[in-house]
Amino acid sequence: MIRLKTREEIKRIKESCVLLSEVLFALRSIVQEGITTKEIDLFVRKECKRLGATPAFLGYQGYPAAICTSVNDVVIHGIPNKRKLKKGDIISLDCGVEYHGFYSDAAFTIPIGPVEPETERLLKVTKECLDLAIGKAIAGNRVHDISRVVYQHAKSHGYGVVREFCGHGVGFHPHEDPQVPNYVGKGPNPRLVPGMVLAIEPMINAGTDDVFVEEDNWTVRTSDGSLSAHFEHTIAILEDGTEVLTYW
Ligand code: MF3
Ligand code: CO
Repeated sequence: MIRLKTREEIKRIKESCVLLSEVLFALRSIVQEGITTKEIDLFVRKECKRLGATPAFLGYQGYPAAICTSVNDVVIHGIPNKRKLKKGDIISLDCGVEYHGFYSDAAFTIPIGPVEPETERLLKVTKECLDLAIGKAIAGNRVHDISRVVYQHAKSHGYGVVREFCGHGVGFHPHEDPQVPNYVGKGPNPRLVPGMVLAIEPMINAGTDDVFVEEDNWTVRTSDGSLSAHFEHTIAILEDGTEVLTYW
């Protein structure tokens, strides 16, 4: 069931999004060569505390950290650990917070130091997928208009599109209906209407579409070991246009 949000509720969700964005933005200055993903997680926990927000992922379905740190061929749900980031890595930083009962969700992928031009291109195209998707996330369109533009843009660059995980509604809970896939499948294709709040999140692989989940039941990797990128914003569909509520 899709739960639409009132203007007042969207205002509250936006407050949650702003705090999340402050945390994510602050990560840009500390995520560099030599830091461990565990230290990144600790930083996020401290920042959330300082801002009075609760990390939404911590304990969610048993997830053991405040942030997902997905390095290189890890697509999503990378659990922070003792591994130090090194030059040439890419890392997706995916986080959500709860503030006064309202949930936000956002992610971005950054390089650690200089990376190969092909890697830069993967990041650029995945970010473009998100921007194009947001452009389609307007009242009157349907979910599949978002899905189609992501899929087509990624495929036009020869990339793999992850099918096993989707964007989603967000706001009252970390995950709500509708699902927002990054490909056009046989699933529901609801019309987009004012009051919808969505987390749109293309997950794009340099190689094939295929991914697998590791033994830890969280870490999602590309099957061919190729690099993967992930960008996500929480957006609100309003009568007079669509507002992007997160930033990084
Ligand atoms: N942004 C991700 C998602 O929407 C993060 C969820 S991770 C979890 O699926 F730990 F909370 F499950
Ligand atoms: Co999400």
